[in-house]
Amino acid sequence: MLNYRAGLADRPVYDVTERPWKIKVNANECNMNLPPLVEERVMARLSHVAFNRYPNEEYDDLCEQIARNFSLAKENVLLGSGSSEIIEKLFYCFGGTKKSRIVYPRPSFSMYAIYANAADAEGVPVELEEDYTLDAERFVKTVKESGANLAVVCNPNNPTGTGIPLRDVEYIAEKIDCAFLVDEAYVEFYGQSAVGLLKKYPNLIIARTFSKAYGLASSRVGYMLAGADIVSMVSRAYMPYHMNVLSLVVADIVYQMRHEFVPRIQMTIAERKRMAGELKKVEGFTVYPSETNFLLARYDRAQELNESLIRQGIGVRSFGNAPGLTNCLRISMGLREENDTWLKAIRLFAEGRD
Ligand SMILES: Cc1ncc(COP(=O)(O)O)c(C=O)c1O
Repeated sequence: MLNYRAGLADRPVYDVTERPWKIKVNANECNMNLPPLVEERVMARLSHVAFNRYPNEEYDDLCEQIARNFSLAKENVLLGSGSSEIIEKLFYCFGGTKKSRIVYPRPSFSMYAIYANAADAEGVPVELEEDYTLDAERFVKTVKESGANLAVVCNPNNPTGTGIPLRDVEYIAEKIDCAFLVDEAYVEFYGQSAVGLLKKYPNLIIARTFSKAYGLASSRVGYMLAGADIVSMVSRAYMPYHMNVLSLVVADIVYQMRHEFVPRIQMTIAERKRMAGELKKVEGFTVYPSETNFLLARYDRAQELNESLIRQGIGVRSFGNAPGLTNCLRISMGLREENDTWLKAIRLFAEGRD
């Protein structure tokens, strides 16, 4: 008989099982590998890695580079194995007892509920409006009334795509006293960041990732920006040398060469606009405004459509009956030809010709 820790068997699981998709638009990834110029530099750098040494300098180099870009100090930056690790550690740091409440919008990134559970905290969801906008006043009220330790918003929001206006983010930061995390995983497709508010609001924390706009999901690199005191406390939750040197040097080069990614970010935004326009024309489709690299659409026959797409090797994200997301499908923007293919498959299904 193995005695695992209490609650482990009941912990919700995030299913990441995949199939060999012909078109994979289900995980908000970038559908292009690194730009050739960046890849060349990465490969050259990897041939100089000291595999026998623990990563010290490489961690500092990336922190310094990120800090410089935002006119912050190295002490304001903490790296993680994807922003997933950053968020998980923040929930851990502000969790710990059933009285530790963590407030986040719903629907939003489904991992927030899982991290709250794993941190032995109580997750307190605040329902979004029908059009998926956030009522900032109601959010603040819930944070205060629940005596929350941590409040989280995702801006722009996954999976709805909705952006929270910066004035609402600032309103929340101003009104609440607890730690306030703004998850900016998709910010490069939006352009409105809360980074400029960091110096004004010492409770503010920003999480970013290399996985989306910078197409580095494989390497698992994310970072957090916050006051030096928060960074120092949250660092205590990490093991020494938690980032591997391969990911650190790859991310360092990608960040140095981030201007190389601008054309593809612009292309993704253009595709998002084009596909939103096309999808809206499909009978029965409601398409929500998006500020990200994906679209969320509602369709009465979403489950059946998803099954048809699966049969054709097209992977989109279906939400089934998840709270607030009944009959919703989320589709990441792929290459133009990929987008044309899934759109055609959807059109044929809607016309009964699949
Ligand atoms: C809103 C949001 N935050 C964080 C993450 C985690 O990304 P990563 O761990 O790859 O940095 C994701 C991934 O999909 C996301 O959608």
